[in-house]
Amino acid sequence: MTQTSKQDHVLIFDTTLRDGEQSPGATMSHNEKVEIAGLLDEMGVDIIEAGFPIASEGDFEAVRDIALNAKNSVICGLARASTNDIDRCWEAVKHAPRGRIHTFIGTSPLHRDITALTMDEMANKIHDTVTHARNLTDDVQWSPMDAIRTEHDYLCRVVEIAIKAGATTINIPDTVGYTIPRESSDIIKMLLQRVPGADEIIFATHCHNDLGMATANALAAVEAGARQIECTINGLGERAGNTALEEVVMALKVRNDVMPYSTRIDTTKIMNISRRVSQVSGFPVQYNKAIVGKNAFAHESGIHQDGMLKNKETFEIMRPQDVGLAGTSLPLGKHSGRAALRAKLDEMGFALADNQLKDVFVRFKDLADRKKEVFDDDLIALLRDSGAAE
Ligand code: KIV
Ligand code: ZN
Repeated sequence: MTQTSKQDHVLIFDTTLRDGEQSPGATMSHNEKVEIAGLLDEMGVDIIEAGFPIASEGDFEAVRDIALNAKNSVICGLARASTNDIDRCWEAVKHAPRGRIHTFIGTSPLHRDITALTMDEMANKIHDTVTHARNLTDDVQWSPMDAIRTEHDYLCRVVEIAIKAGATTINIPDTVGYTIPRESSDIIKMLLQRVPGADEIIFATHCHNDLGMATANALAAVEAGARQIECTINGLGERAGNTALEEVVMALKVRNDVMPYSTRIDTTKIMNISRRVSQVSGFPVQYNKAIVGKNAFAHESGIHQDGMLKNKETFEIMRPQDVGLAGTSLPLGKHSGRAALRAKLDEMGFALADNQLKDVFVRFKDLADRKKEVFDDDLIALLRDSGAAE
């Protein structure tokens, strides 16, 4: 297992339990968080951001217990740019075989206004807090929150300060989901070119989905040189959510021909953890969600079902088994054709003669016009009505 990666390996940093839980209404219990962390560890997530230890006693205990149970993943906690936050964070993550402190401060003009710090004052604070974290552990991540809306010269300046103070990972957050792929890529390229020491550390990309571009922006950053993607299961997260883990991981797997980067994720565990996160967070997964939606591997129309029955690659770019599903589903509805009906009846053990199938198909279309989906029991009733079954 590797935690540092400079070539073609991309580290997966999951923040379902921190940024994901910040989604209004997604609060998880202590035991649920420990369970989800175990699943993330098992599936090969490199770094688990387990919470924000200073936020509450409950958050502290959850991060500490996740750290105590960690096997392969690095356990990370979030801390503001304050020594109290950083100390509390270390108290929780130090129990892991490998613990990380992730400290951040908003660097854009809007955030500097809120904190009432001048550029120089903020630069000093970054130096002091990263140095403090680095005195506790050699695994320190630093984020300039709202990096995308921070002046480029100032961004380069503070990134350089954080690297000199000992940060080993620099995360570039698109906090408000404002960027586009070209810009996401240009910022990473600029930092790699302009900041001394940039080639010694890992750049991370942390995208939000306000304009629906989180996955594209994260992948663009990787193509420019970022080697850590921050993401959540089902894209859970503040407002419109974060980059979805399942989307970036499957995109890197399916399009490895044009994005030759590997991850450690066992993709066959994706469906299970997606369902579990949906249950414990209370956030349903939309039917047409990429990779994990109920319809992601379902085909109803006649042309598609016929194609799928002949060659699955006609309408599927990845195997459902690769994300942990038993197989493709061909639900029967008004758009379905005769080939899918025959395949379904065969599967149910009814081998019909052509003239019988013709009759049942007419009855099926009539029913499908009145009903969203035709189930096995409906088909048995149709077969009985037509005399094709007892
Ligand atoms: O979106 C963001 O900027 C964050 C930071 C705390 C990294 O979540
Ligand atoms: Zn975030």
